[in-house]
Amino acid sequence: MKNKVFITRSILPAGIELLRSAGFEVSVNDLDRALSYEELKEKGHSADALITMLSDRIDEEFLTYNSHLKVISNYAVGTNNINITKAHELKIPIGNTPDVLTEATAEVALGLMISATRNFFSANACAQNGEWIDWHPTKHLGHGLRGKTLGIVGLGRIGMRLAEMCSSAFKMKIIYTANSDKINSMSATRVDLAELCTQSDFISLHTPLTDKTRNLIGKKELNAMKKSAVLINTSRGEIINQEDLFFALQEKNIFAAGLDVTTPEPLPVEHGLFKLKNVMILPHIGSATYEARNAMSILAAENIIAGINGSELKSWVDKKDLLP
Ligand code: GLV
Ligand code: GLV
Repeated sequence: MKNKVFITRSILPAGIELLRSAGFEVSVNDLDRALSYEELKEKGHSADALITMLSDRIDEEFLTYNSHLKVISNYAVGTNNINITKAHELKIPIGNTPDVLTEATAEVALGLMISATRNFFSANACAQNGEWIDWHPTKHLGHGLRGKTLGIVGLGRIGMRLAEMCSSAFKMKIIYTANSDKINSMSATRVDLAELCTQSDFISLHTPLTDKTRNLIGKKELNAMKKSAVLINTSRGEIINQEDLFFALQEKNIFAAGLDVTTPEPLPVEHGLFKLKNVMILPHIGSATYEARNAMSILAAENIIAGINGSELKSWVDKKDLLP
């Protein structure tokens, strides 16, 4: 009997082809929507292995019901949608897709830094709304990047890549938080979060979501930031206390924010954040390049093949991987 692989959304084809040529029976959810939790649970029941999206909730109940699964391969680097402790207990290996999306996500973080500090979104809205009356000497002003201090919260792969870009292109000074000192070519220094908040002109979040990092950035941290500070989040929405952020932006306690992630996702269109001019929101597109998504498709498939064959996954989520 052929092993059955179910893919919870239609992904780029390279990985699907790889799985078929490895001799597996592959089926794909080709409805153009996410499956409900119940639908997903049932799909899991008739499969040997799954490729899951970051929006699929793979919790204790799901895993207990589907404890027969040989491997779950998450089509994402973050795995906060999966109960890793339970999966380990049931000996279901969990794969993810680090490295291949590092460049793409760092690019979105950098893009948001520039867009947020230079008011791209509100200036674009002005141009579209007929408010572009004439060239204006003092409107739409922002703070430049060159020589400023960038604080990276969680200097992992993506944070490191953003730091390299900003250090080389804009001569920015880099400070960071992490659980240990990280070797780097930028003379970046490790500081505690309080110091990072007070010293940084730009702050970018790159830590995985865990019980320790949930609401890491709240009122206290936002109050400590400079009035000119720009806060960027391309990690997970839950790292920021979003109500506190709304207040800080509304009161102009910080200059701007650029968010590729929110709580919840999607963020309802009537949400107050959409009404503020100093926040730029993207619909979680960090890894959305052809290059990254193609490589993610292949890596997710390779993790499935290894898992079904009982060998070590190319990228295996261990609990230690969840530390920045
Ligand atoms: C995207 O957010 C990912 O974790 O891959
Ligand atoms: C994610 O891959 C990170 O380590 O930043």
